[in-house]
Amino acid sequence: MSTSLHPHPLRLGVNIDHVATIRNARGGDHPDPVRAAEIVARCGGDGITAHLREDRRHIRDEDLARIQAATNLPLNLEMAATPEMLEIALRHAPHAACIVPEKREERTTEGGLDAAGLHNTLVPIVDELKGAGIRVSLFIEATERQLDAALKLGVPVVEFHTGEYAHAILDGDAERTSSELKRIADMAALAAKNGIEPHAGHGLTYENVQPIAAIPQLAELNIGHYLIGEAVFTGLEAAVLKMRDLMDDAR
Ligand code: PXP
Repeated sequence: MSTSLHPHPLRLGVNIDHVATIRNARGGDHPDPVRAAEIVARCGGDGITAHLREDRRHIRDEDLARIQAATNLPLNLEMAATPEMLEIALRHAPHAACIVPEKREERTTEGGLDAAGLHNTLVPIVDELKGAGIRVSLFIEATERQLDAALKLGVPVVEFHTGEYAHAILDGDAERTSSELKRIADMAALAAKNGIEPHAGHGLTYENVQPIAAIPQLAELNIGHYLIGEAVFTGLEAAVLKMRDLMDDAR
């Protein structure tokens, strides 16, 4: 078991949104995502990730300050590229902000941000976040076009969307699984070569995390839905520790 509290070469950011989803289902205060953040901090998670959606379906505005006050872990705020979210990010000054695409009708973040097509919209947002000392990341598909756009925007971090890889495994499609994996590995290497720190996330589980965790340039994985689901059965601490061990064993 590798449960040290030292910084990990591959960090685990735990997305606690879905604790808030369960809370919001009854409109009260329980279960509190802040309590989840405290557990993640105690058991060796490296960061807390939270997506403040336009419709506030899980994390709410007041949760952000409470999460920041409750732990010393870096907060990675996932946000749409809108003036409202920019203002909130600047006010809360999280450690990092990951710009994600957001469609109101989607169940989850279904694809990467079109950083190439949205260049002009993203320039002022990226610049303001960077100016405030916030580490900006773009949640993109692992393609050269999007990585190129990230380079042009001067972001220090990209997070590659692993949803297609996760789907290929669920479909039992070995060929697509290996081509998706190669795409992510190639783009992680290209990002690192160009001075951008690559992260990855979306749809990662105990079953599919290791080939992704084995990509040597990746510095962080952000994992939410599966961990919170597992926590129902094993508790959040056990779920985080097991994911941590699988990630470490893959390196
Ligand atoms: N990273 C980003 C940028 C995301 O938008 C999400 C989902 O909100 C995740 C990681 C976590 O994905 P999942 O909940 O499928 O683990």
